[in-house]
Amino acid sequence: MKVLVIGGGGREHALVWKLAQDSCQPQLFCAPGNAGTAALATNLPIAAEDVAGLLTWATQNRPDLTVVGPEAPLCAGVVDAFTAAGLRTFGPCQAGARLEGSKQFSKEVMLAAGVPTARAATFSDATMAIQALQQFRTPVVIKADGLAAGKGVVIAATHAEAAEAIQAMLVEKVFGAAGATVLIEEFLEGEEASILALVDGEHVALLPSSQDHKRIFDDDQGPNTGGMGAYSPAPVVTPDLLPLIRERVILATLRELRRRGIIYKGVLYAGLMIGKQGVQVLEFNCRFGDPETEAVLPRLAGDLIPVLQACIDGTLDESMVRVRPEACTTVVMAAGGYPGTYTKGTPIHGLAAAAQQTDVCVFHAGTTLHNGEVVTAGGRVLAVTALGADLPQAVAHAYAGVRAIRFEGAQYRTDIARRAFNR
Ligand code: AMP
Ligand code: GLY
Repeated sequence: MKVLVIGGGGREHALVWKLAQDSCQPQLFCAPGNAGTAALATNLPIAAEDVAGLLTWATQNRPDLTVVGPEAPLCAGVVDAFTAAGLRTFGPCQAGARLEGSKQFSKEVMLAAGVPTARAATFSDATMAIQALQQFRTPVVIKADGLAAGKGVVIAATHAEAAEAIQAMLVEKVFGAAGATVLIEEFLEGEEASILALVDGEHVALLPSSQDHKRIFDDDQGPNTGGMGAYSPAPVVTPDLLPLIRERVILATLRELRRRGIIYKGVLYAGLMIGKQGVQVLEFNCRFGDPETEAVLPRLAGDLIPVLQACIDGTLDESMVRVRPEACTTVVMAAGGYPGTYTKGTPIHGLAAAAQQTDVCVFHAGTTLHNGEVVTAGGRVLAVTALGADLPQAVAHAYAGVRAIRFEGAQYRTDIARRAFNR
């Protein structure tokens, strides 16, 4: 069985690592992959966004299953193109991926489906948007409609700051077409958590809860990043919330999409805010989260391929997902300077020693091989992951892995999962 994984970050290394353990012993390919995936799969020199290049390779090499990691190819229609070529592909169609690709569409679907979410208004005219700010209390959230590489959300403390963000998006076009429409959204308080749901268009299997750490520094200080670490389970997602998340968030959204003629398959990732007002959806993503995937996949028992196939075939059943009792933590080691500018090509030492620590698995995010040596190749470099009997033990194991690794300028948070201990 041949399986192609599209993408080259920590999420894709975790997917390749999990798929490599499936009992059918698949032959794995990863496009473009990284130094970590190279140990388990054949890396293909095709960018994840290069849908035409991926399709050419796939029509010639006929993978039995393709798993799409990042949002860009999903929003560009890679699943539609592969499916039309008779290739079985895990992920939503282009119309479904708009749940992530357009925050306006996502909000419209949520309102129609009765999904609990923040009040918002949509504008493409700056003057009208700035006038409408008066109807929102501060802090207020300004969001670019389209994909803006995780930078399209501004939490403005004052109306003046909000007006500035609106001006930057609608007039100065700092995000190009992605910012041609903006949402003004009510600010929600609470604690964030991620629920990744596997879906087949109609049925759902919730994966274990997790929590990302978006800020670069300890205690949630400094600028937002792609995610500096994650852990699973996230105790803020208490068991009593799960039926509501399943019914009122995931199933309601799938139903509303079906009403619009969209059969959504793959991962429906709900970014949640859990607070006084209960569970509210901050955003939907159309894919596995990164770094949440690195903390969630190690907790799954049994084969993954049959579950992904059931999502494609419309035969998903919640009992297909079995969760191990252990907790999992992943700590991202990033390049110095990230999320600003950083250098690449820095040699990484201690990977083998880290892998020998109890229950540690080092997922590569931004790495590549240079003359046989693993060097940095991105902002988020490694996702050092460990299981443990409980969260404190998983954290201790993961940091033992981190301490074994050295590269110049390395930075990481020292408080991953700490919020869960304080509950
Ligand atoms: P998004 O890309 O929509 O998830 O936004 C990125 C981050 O901005 C989220 O993870 C939250 O931390 C924050 N955020 C987005 N929307 C809101 C909101 N309505 N209230 C409070 N924080 C928000
Ligand atoms: N961890 C956030 C994301 O994957 O979008």
